[in-house]
Amino acid sequence: MSKKDILKQYQRYVMPTYDRFPLIITKGKGKYVWDTNNKRYLDFFPGWAVSVLGHCHPLVLRNVKRQLDRIIHVPNNYYNILQGKLAEEIIKNSFEGKVFFANSGAEAVEAAIKLARRYGYPKRYQIISMRGSFHGRTLAAITLTGQPKYQEGFKPLPSGFRYVPFNNFDALTKAITDKTVAIVIEPIQGEGGINVADKDYLKKVRRLCNKKDILLIFDEIQTGMGRTGKMFCFQHYQITPDAMTLSKALGGGFPIAALVAGKKVSNVLSPGTHATTFGGSPVVCAASLGVFEALKKERLIQNVNKISPYFFRRLDELKRRYYDIIKEVRGMGFMIGLELTQPADAVYRFCLKEGLLINYTQRYVLRILPPLNINRKDVDRAISILDKAFQELKNEK
Ligand SMILES: Cc1ncc(COP(=O)(O)O)c(C=O)c1O
Repeated sequence: MSKKDILKQYQRYVMPTYDRFPLIITKGKGKYVWDTNNKRYLDFFPGWAVSVLGHCHPLVLRNVKRQLDRIIHVPNNYYNILQGKLAEEIIKNSFEGKVFFANSGAEAVEAAIKLARRYGYPKRYQIISMRGSFHGRTLAAITLTGQPKYQEGFKPLPSGFRYVPFNNFDALTKAITDKTVAIVIEPIQGEGGINVADKDYLKKVRRLCNKKDILLIFDEIQTGMGRTGKMFCFQHYQITPDAMTLSKALGGGFPIAALVAGKKVSNVLSPGTHATTFGGSPVVCAASLGVFEALKKERLIQNVNKISPYFFRRLDELKRRYYDIIKEVRGMGFMIGLELTQPADAVYRFCLKEGLLINYTQRYVLRILPPLNINRKDVDRAISILDKAFQELKNEK
């Protein structure tokens, strides 16, 4: 099938919910993907933070292939060995509690909303989230998301949600009422433009939640699984949330999500209150166990902490040279944003042409989330392409 025919087929049969670039990816291995012309791209945004080990990691493949020969699906009215094993792995790497498995980020967020509602029932139901946040596309998740653009055309939305500016403790304190049951925060806003929560802010929020018996829920769907230089981002802040949502990197490319509920709320969702047919099926759990194994065996979180300062140093150099184009370089570990003084799509397109995949969000922010197993040479390659892109923009000015 020609490239033109594939695009036509999409046009005719696939709902137009995405703005797609005309790149057809046919193969992926490690940090690279290939297109229909066999052109190779260095993928510094693999699967929107999903392919944390790069593409088709051998340990993920080994576990999945092994499981496919045994059984693909086990319904949740029975037990499957891998679901319990994975729950234990997640808990041992985060905080004491229990796990509910789902299939996508938005579903984990839905589960978190239901957990909070159930915890507060019947007196408290209100959930506070942050402006600029992103929590997914189901009706409750777009309502939790503090960006009106995602809610347009879908009203009436569920009630009981309030929004406050990110990193503003006074505004948060003022928004709390006797109906407030939970506060939901991404410790680093991803889609919102790589906005990092202040250390002091989150500590104060934790104290406030303790005082008022409000649940502190972290959405770690983008920040989790080593991306920021710790297994989970909350671990940078010396505080523990009451619950957190995970997805994306959790399955190393396979669709899995989790709501991790700390001890206080781990039995709130009792039998019959929540369910999903595919949640925690053995094949995706096998994949996820492969991710945990690879993170440990290959010391990938250590690698993030080794390479990240170098990456930031090189980006800061670019910022110094292109100070009229790059406004700020920010982020943590391998969750990196470059805020530009002009729309970022031109840089994105230039990089794509030169064989580097990155992303942009909020129109002005380049988003770079490479796999955790890159080295200095890969960083140098990305920097040299970005350098050329900024040079071209400068020449145009
Ligand atoms: C922080 C955060 N929460 C929730 C979601 C929604 O996840 P999904 O697209 O798997 O439903 C995303 C997706 O980008 C996200 O970044």
